[in-house]
Amino acid sequence: MNLGTLRLTLLTLLAGCGDKEGACTDGTAILLSDGSVSGFVECEDETVHRVSAETCPLPDPAGDSVCSTENNQGSCQTDDDCTDGGNGRCVQTSSDEFSDDIWCGCRYGCETDDDCGTGSVCTCDTTSPTGRSECIPASCQTDADCGKEQCVLDVYEWCGNPQLSLSCSTAEDECTANAQCEGSDLGSPYEWCALDGEARECDSKSSGDYCGDGRPFFVDGAAVTAADQGADGWGAALSPEVARLSVQERAVLAQRWRHAGLAEHASVASFARYLLQLMALGAPAALVSEATAAMADEIRHAQQCLALASAYADEVVGPGPLNITGALAGPHTLESVLESVIVEACVGETIAAIQAAEALRLSTDETVRVVLTGIVADEWRHAEAGWRFVRWAVSQGGPVIAQRAQELLATAARRRQTPPPPPQLHPAALDAHGCPDAERLHAAEQAALREVILPCTAALAA
Ligand SMILES: [Fe+2]
Ligand SMILES: [Fe+2]
Repeated sequence: MNLGTLRLTLLTLLAGCGDKEGACTDGTAILLSDGSVSGFVECEDETVHRVSAETCPLPDPAGDSVCSTENNQGSCQTDDDCTDGGNGRCVQTSSDEFSDDIWCGCRYGCETDDDCGTGSVCTCDTTSPTGRSECIPASCQTDADCGKEQCVLDVYEWCGNPQLSLSCSTAEDECTANAQCEGSDLGSPYEWCALDGEARECDSKSSGDYCGDGRPFFVDGAAVTAADQGADGWGAALSPEVARLSVQERAVLAQRWRHAGLAEHASVASFARYLLQLMALGAPAALVSEATAAMADEIRHAQQCLALASAYADEVVGPGPLNITGALAGPHTLESVLESVIVEACVGETIAAIQAAEALRLSTDETVRVVLTGIVADEWRHAEAGWRFVRWAVSQGGPVIAQRAQELLATAARRRQTPPPPPQLHPAALDAHGCPDAERLHAAEQAALREVILPCTAALAA
């Protein structure tokens, strides 16, 4: 046993005795790929907490040489392009199975917490979702910062990618690991253990991302949706084939379609605000009319998705009130509306359309296929309407707005360029009922960026 392992063993033992009353009192040290200690300990109930700050092996000495070829469509060519943080490496993040194109992006490594600045710590290879050392947000560094509690690692997914953070457990926590919440044994938790105010609880809302559900309704930078209150009046009767589904598969499908339905419901509000903004800008009737028609489309999508959710859940699923406080706070200038259209429509709905097409390709349930066929066609039209708005805005604002549109598109696209998520257990029944796994959704998202959004961005400069 080397000194590091011995130290961690002692710290682990100490974490389980004395005055500690935290999330767990047993535990096994998590080792790094080179056999050294990571500073993290995993308990039997799958809670992971950090008992010591260790030094991570430095990331690979250089990024991937394949990134300097012309097949690379990504955001960097060499390590020299990666200057937003320390130890920048330009690495391949994805490839196109139908061509020689590859995709490279910047990844930033760290050796110690000091490399990460205030409010974040350095997590090493086996404790990092990317397999490389990286900085993660943290309100505690180790258990020592948490009094009688522990410094617990939280993991949730955002746009198909695991996100990690550290914070102290509390006596009020309902859970301290996703495995303690419902549905985690299917490999893709439909409930996540997430901080809600001061304490952690199993929460299906926090599992949501807005990658596959059309146009989000952003207020103050956060996507707002109504809660499911079992309200009547939204879900028309639909009857997918549920007889051969297990109880757990039905529960996962109910949650996924509930999430999609509530997001579609919020899209109605997003288009309603857009309609008002178009009027405020003096936009032509064609754009106003497209926004009005899109609202009707989103109402239909919400009804259909909620009807599917109700069928899988075997109970009525329907939205309560939508909080619109602050939704119309200005300014509503050509540039500010351009920004929201680019994020919500040109990028958001283009990706949503291609992800829905992937879900349709994999689905076999006839009822689900009818719903998805309509959604794919409608979301394409909504994305096209967004691009038409950009063209009109450029015609009104000239080169300054054209330049701004390009910057906004490049930024929005860069935010969606992410490495693929790790493979997950995924029952085929979920594909059959319109819910592909995170890996496929990520591949569709990256294809949308590569095949549509970046070429359209380049065309703006022409
Ligand atoms: Fe939609
Ligand atoms: Fe839409």
